[in-house]
Amino acid sequence: MDAICSAIMRQAKRYGTPRSLKKTLLFVAVVSSVFVWYLSYHMLPSRNVSLVKDQLEKSITVKDPLYSSQTGTRRATLPTNTTRVPSPFGDRLGTNRSRASETLMKQNITERDTWTNVRFNKTVEPTILVVTNQFLISSDLTNALKANNIKFDKVYASTLVTSWPALEDNDTGKYFVILFQSIVILHDLNTELLSTIYDYCYKYNAGIIAFSQQMSKTTKYKKLYPLPMTMEHGQSLRDISVNPTAGDVLHITKPGQGTRGSLPSSSWTVFKSDLPSYRPLVQAKKVTPAKSLNQTSQEKEILYATVLLDDGDYDGIQKIFIGNDLRFWLHYVLFLDSISYLSHGLLRTSLDRYIQVDIDDVFVGKNGRLTHLDVQALINQQQVLSNKVPGFTFKLGFSGRSFGSGNEDEKKGDLALAKNAHVFSWFPHMWGHAQAHTYDNRSKLVSEMKMNYQFAKSQNITVYESYAVAPHHSGVYPAHDMLYDAWKEVWGTKVTSTEEYPNLLPDWNRKGFIFKDIMVLPRKTCTLYTKNLLMSNYTGGKSGLDGVVRGGEVFKTVISNPISVFMTHMPNYARDRLGLYLFDELVTFIQRWTNIKLKTASPVKMAQMYFERHPEEREPKWMNPCSDKRHLQILPKLQSCDRLPQILVLGPQKTGTAALRAFMSLHPNLASNYPSKESFEEMQFFSNSKYYARGLEWYMSHFPQVRHNPTDKDRILFEKSATYFDSENAPKRAHLLLHKAKLITILIDPAKRAYSWYQHERAHENPASLNYTFYDVISASDGPGTHPKVVSLRNRCLNPGMYAKHVSSWLSHYSSKKMLVLDGELLKTDPVAVMVKVQQFLGLKRQIDYKDKIIFDKTKGFYCPVKSGRKHCLPKNKGRSYPPMDDKSKEFLRQFYQNYNFQLRNLLIKKHLHTPQWLGKD
Ligand code: A3P
Repeated sequence: MDAICSAIMRQAKRYGTPRSLKKTLLFVAVVSSVFVWYLSYHMLPSRNVSLVKDQLEKSITVKDPLYSSQTGTRRATLPTNTTRVPSPFGDRLGTNRSRASETLMKQNITERDTWTNVRFNKTVEPTILVVTNQFLISSDLTNALKANNIKFDKVYASTLVTSWPALEDNDTGKYFVILFQSIVILHDLNTELLSTIYDYCYKYNAGIIAFSQQMSKTTKYKKLYPLPMTMEHGQSLRDISVNPTAGDVLHITKPGQGTRGSLPSSSWTVFKSDLPSYRPLVQAKKVTPAKSLNQTSQEKEILYATVLLDDGDYDGIQKIFIGNDLRFWLHYVLFLDSISYLSHGLLRTSLDRYIQVDIDDVFVGKNGRLTHLDVQALINQQQVLSNKVPGFTFKLGFSGRSFGSGNEDEKKGDLALAKNAHVFSWFPHMWGHAQAHTYDNRSKLVSEMKMNYQFAKSQNITVYESYAVAPHHSGVYPAHDMLYDAWKEVWGTKVTSTEEYPNLLPDWNRKGFIFKDIMVLPRKTCTLYTKNLLMSNYTGGKSGLDGVVRGGEVFKTVISNPISVFMTHMPNYARDRLGLYLFDELVTFIQRWTNIKLKTASPVKMAQMYFERHPEEREPKWMNPCSDKRHLQILPKLQSCDRLPQILVLGPQKTGTAALRAFMSLHPNLASNYPSKESFEEMQFFSNSKYYARGLEWYMSHFPQVRHNPTDKDRILFEKSATYFDSENAPKRAHLLLHKAKLITILIDPAKRAYSWYQHERAHENPASLNYTFYDVISASDGPGTHPKVVSLRNRCLNPGMYAKHVSSWLSHYSSKKMLVLDGELLKTDPVAVMVKVQQFLGLKRQIDYKDKIIFDKTKGFYCPVKSGRKHCLPKNKGRSYPPMDDKSKEFLRQFYQNYNFQLRNLLIKKHLHTPQWLGKD
């Protein structure tokens, strides 16, 4: 109250002249409303609070997603029909319980299992909205979200309100948290937007997170109306600590932890608010400048919040303000806790973190091999770690050929390892550390592995966890089929790990995949490499190493990943034994500051957990190895960049794709794939998951290696699979592998295409087509009375003809300049003209005249390719004779495709693509 009165006096003095009377009145009006609010807040709440308390006590007994089972306290949210302090943006009375939460309750999802159930339910995937600004770099923030597997949408604050993503979807809130990259963005939002966001948060009980990032150097100090708090930038701080009473909010962070001494940098941001519902989560003292000697010792001990919670008592919306950005590790963890808290636990991860530490090549290398003393230190440290992380053992990788090849001390080291083999876990490399990609003979590779197997047996080394690692990642990715087959044959391998998939960097972006039933886990970086024998070799020495574990890169890796497989190397455990130091410090630091439960499990168990959590990663993504230097270096001998097509003929089926393929093959500069026995001639690699799973080696093996032969120098490869056109997966899969490819599609009237497909199915004696007329099939409904085979046939007749949808899908991955649209009707009547277009589009070195190469055949009723002076017409199944389509079906299809054709015309015109004549006539 005192503060308000003195503010009035100060402002009255300032505006007290007659000229400023208007301003004074305005000010008094504003202050009075603040005064009324003050009264309502401080006088009325006793009723509200008891009401709230009553409600809370009741709600604790029910299964409520808002109830925190971990802490036994419920979040300070107002229940339905409770009088609330009006928000600065008008009346927001109504239910405070989020509809999302209600939906969850209806689905009977309890707090404890909310996370898993919702996370894997595609329709209710918790998402957060990041509001940023063109001038702020948001990659740190978005990378942190990606690293923690948190789905988000991003929007620029300056975007017109109408262009913002819809906050609601089917009467359900879409965003569980709204995150502002800078408080200033929140503060400066236009009233309409701010009001929309507040209304949304209020309605769905969504929280707000805002960072203090400065938008410009001049914004040193800000009162943040309508937030009853202040913010100070540019502070030097000391004695930072986590609020011991914040256990109800914190999940990963341990409350009460702190550290004495000054924090680096003098650009910290602190927050202050006098409202009791504003609670510091992390707090620190200011470093007192020498000139303010007259500060009392009490003042010096004042704690300022670097992370502040607004529990929503003021305006009904919970917010967490985070000073600075995510570079400070404690704020990084608090950020995750904030998301967990404000999303009502829906974005809360389990506290379990599984770690595995591999030591590669224990017998390999010339300098810095392990001595018996190093081995003893390794055993001792393993014991220490297993006391902190139950069941922990180092995983030792071996290539037997170099066993005992070091100096006397090192030989003793090898013997000590073998003698103590039973205390470690072991995994095989190759016998002579060979790289699998160099092998093109499977039996040789198998015999190399078998030697290592024999070595393990002779030394009583038991490899019992079906885990193997390839030297230099060779053969794992890019995947060499032979390695996977040999691993299974010799070792029964079920799991491996690599840092090469899909690319080496960055760490958080690496993924796993399953190939030939072997689960490939992504490896994490622990910043130690083969060269790191001595502390002085490490970048930044000891303090550099301390930095990565005490809140740095390696710490964040463990925090953000339920499963971390670290690769280290034997020299890291010799001389200064950096590996021992790193993992001891890491575990100690994590256990001191966090509630994380460090665990171990067998590689198979870990891999199973990984793919349960990331089912979308099971299928490998075959990227182009030729556009990655590292991948090129380990590209299996059997694979070659020359065995990838540069042209894809997409289809759709029944538009003349076989004829086009035959005509293209007549060109001396074009070569097609060999027919595939398994997939009905066409490869269907990108459209059929079964063939896609066979991998790149399988795909490449269907193409001639053109450029090896000097006469083939200018030949380029093409592949035609007519199922690509309307496949959901083909565009993205094709783009990953062949992002430079040129695409050709052939379109005929979709009604004719549908009829041709029906006739095709009759020729193949599909009962649905034999027992039902064409009209019956195309007009079949989805109802229970329709046989599923008829529905399936109807879909295959009708769906590919929705051309606009499929062309758009390809154009969302490829530029329209890469696509050629051909008129399939013209291909029947004037294929020579069509081939001129094809040659021009492909920019072939030789443009040939097709006049003598494609000749009409009266008996066939179609043009036929000519080879060695003889016509080679297409087989009987191409250009069938059947009765014309009935009028009823024609009319049905005319209406059915009218809108799709209209969209196609517009799309082709907009993208400057050729519009077939038949489309213009429609
Ligand atoms: P119909 O058999 O219904 O007449 P696709 O090869 O994509 O499956 O397309 C087959 C269709 O190609 C045939 O359908 C036929 O109309 C058309 N086509 C175009 N040019 C052809 C040619 N020169 N020889 C045979 N069929 C041709």
